[in-house]
Amino acid sequence: MSVGALRVGLAGLGTVGGGTWAVLTRNSDEIQRRAGRPIQITAVADLDQAKAKALTSGKARVLGDAMALAKDPEIDVVIELIGGYGFAKEFVLAAIAQGKHVVTANKALLAVHGNEIFAAAQKQGVMVAFEAAVAGGIPIIKALREGLTANRIEWIAGIINGTTNFILSEMRDKGLPFDVVLKEAQRLGYAEADPTFDVEGVDAAHKATIMAAIAFGVPMQFDQAHIEGISSLQAKDITYAEQLGYRIKLLGITKRHAEGIELRVHPTLISSKKLIANVEGAMNAVWVKGDAVGHTMYYGKGAGAEPTASAVIADLVDVARTLTADPDHRVPHLAFQPDALAKLPVVPIEKIESGYYLRLRVKDQPGVLADITRALADSQISIDAFFQREPDEGEHETDVVLITHLCKEQQMRDAISRIEELPTVLAKGVMLRMETFA
Ligand code: HSE
Repeated sequence: MSVGALRVGLAGLGTVGGGTWAVLTRNSDEIQRRAGRPIQITAVADLDQAKAKALTSGKARVLGDAMALAKDPEIDVVIELIGGYGFAKEFVLAAIAQGKHVVTANKALLAVHGNEIFAAAQKQGVMVAFEAAVAGGIPIIKALREGLTANRIEWIAGIINGTTNFILSEMRDKGLPFDVVLKEAQRLGYAEADPTFDVEGVDAAHKATIMAAIAFGVPMQFDQAHIEGISSLQAKDITYAEQLGYRIKLLGITKRHAEGIELRVHPTLISSKKLIANVEGAMNAVWVKGDAVGHTMYYGKGAGAEPTASAVIADLVDVARTLTADPDHRVPHLAFQPDALAKLPVVPIEKIESGYYLRLRVKDQPGVLADITRALADSQISIDAFFQREPDEGEHETDVVLITHLCKEQQMRDAISRIEELPTVLAKGVMLRMETFA
């Protein structure tokens, strides 16, 4: 070990752990010139010790039990790349209790248990750094917490899950159904064998929760997030949206609202002219609106070994630079001073305001459109765009597709309930939200 090196214990030598080892080894001189001291992984822990030994080739101690890292007096910082909320939580809390700084990529852990973890870190005067937890290699935490610190942030909207963005891009490009594209994504290694967290929007909601906390200075409120994924999205809605000039993206959205904050993840129509609508494949992008800076957007790889390692190592450098600083002089974990966090609630989804896409399966006969538009008018909902698919020959039913101007979600839900009761409407409507980002 070099004299004065920051001594790092790395728990979890999977994809990101391996990338962290590789980048730190490859760029050690450059990183040292920035950090002012060497940063050295002195010990690693992984259940697969043989793999860990092969990777580190005698340059770090190899342990089977990560908890030993948390308790090791020869380690200054631990990197948690174990994942999940169970053992990872115990490990992080144990490291904090031992006065160690923590770097983690674990969005689920922070979104669900962050309040407890940050309180423990505050008490111990240690850092918990988490740049890699949101949008992988994109330095969005740094941007929100430091670069935009002058601003009253108004909203954030992000494509923060690469798996679902890849699936949506493929569905649009090839006109294929969700199930087929998901299998392809799994074959290519974009989607996990169990893709639930990704495709059901949970992973994006973890990341949106973290961004909301640091943008608005509120505690983590993952349990209040409204979450809808893409597994029931139909290829025909992507096609119809495109005909109307929109693309469908799974967005994580958090906004200020008169009664608190909005925190939601759902498939969203966005004008195809907007930059974010053109973020394709597994890429991530986060769009932030601040009152002073206006619109800013951050784009890059949201996953992968070295992009995520880039964020992990940036956190290590931050720790190295402020290791000896008075804890009160460090950047607060959640950007705002801990005693200045606001108790803003997450507003229920019924209270948000949005434009809406509605697809209805209807009988092709006189008066159908009049009935539908009357039901919308009765709820004070104004129609922005509209079309009816020409029925195939011999077919007596068809799809009616419309987009509304902004209205309250409750208004829209009431109108849809009444529309679905019409005898000419043959199935439950498909409702999707549309954002203008005006
Ligand atoms: N599974 C995530 C994604 C990457 O598909 O973007 C890690 O958060």
